[in-house]
Amino acid sequence: MIQLPQKVAVGSAHGKLILVGEHAVVYDRPAIAIPFPLIKVKATIQEIYGSIRIESEFFHGPIHSLPEKLQGIAICILETLTALNKPRTGLLIRLRSTIPLGRGLGSSAAIAIALVRSLYTFYGGEVRQTELMALVHLAELHAHGNPSGIDMAAVSSECPILFQKGKSPNPLQIGAPLHLVVADSGRIGDTHAAVTSVRERYILNPARIQASLDRIGWIAKDSRAALSLGNMELLGKLLNFAQDELIELGVSDKGINKLIDVARKAGAMGAKLTGGGRGGCVLAIASSQAHSKVLANAFLKVGALQTWNFSLEGMR
Ligand code: MEV
Repeated sequence: MIQLPQKVAVGSAHGKLILVGEHAVVYDRPAIAIPFPLIKVKATIQEIYGSIRIESEFFHGPIHSLPEKLQGIAICILETLTALNKPRTGLLIRLRSTIPLGRGLGSSAAIAIALVRSLYTFYGGEVRQTELMALVHLAELHAHGNPSGIDMAAVSSECPILFQKGKSPNPLQIGAPLHLVVADSGRIGDTHAAVTSVRERYILNPARIQASLDRIGWIAKDSRAALSLGNMELLGKLLNFAQDELIELGVSDKGINKLIDVARKAGAMGAKLTGGGRGGCVLAIASSQAHSKVLANAFLKVGALQTWNFSLEGMR
């Protein structure tokens, strides 16, 4: 492979956390998501001779050899080049990510956002939000099957959002600092499979699942009010209720329940899974930054792979 010594362009995106409303958001209920700036993806584009090549931790080689599971990335790159009216050849694309894959932290959406942004920058274009969402949606369709769009909205947003499918996300106000601790169970959760399993439950028992989805929607609306008032105690209780509903939907599991139990015993104001579930991550609300460290240690003691402490300052 011969690299040409010319321009290089970079695009990036951060991770996301779903505070409340995952799964129900697929069924048009509102949900709240938060940008997670501690973890990021960076895509770097460089000109080379030959076909498009990808270099990343999870794949090295020509774009046409990407495995089936990663076809969303290929579709996103090729469609972006078509949108830019550029040839589908002659690029080296490097992906570097600190967002763990398959943990409900937005890795697939963030990779796609970083790719589209880097390609637009490389060719001197500016990508509008609607174009960005349309191109990333193609990748997300492949990764998630029936994505609500919340992941791509959250990883491209600089502030917390209230999201409802098909509508523009609403920026949220936060009345007081929100101290969050995120713990990685270390187990990959397949969002596609989790969304499909909820669909199957829905088909088997529509009244029961519909009622659960409704409750999650109400919890999300009340959480918005609690956030805006800065009433984190109430928010914590609401997140606990949301976790009960996620158990009802069948997307929590033993390992996740154990982490949540440990957090609550260590004084978390609320704790729940975040993202698709069935593995992945949990989030907990701490009462202060010092308490965040206590929660993080409690998670690590029972086998969490890693934790992140993260405070959202009050913003109005
Ligand atoms: C995944 O981060 C969130 C889900 O609600 C799926 C989606 O909204 O596309 C589980």
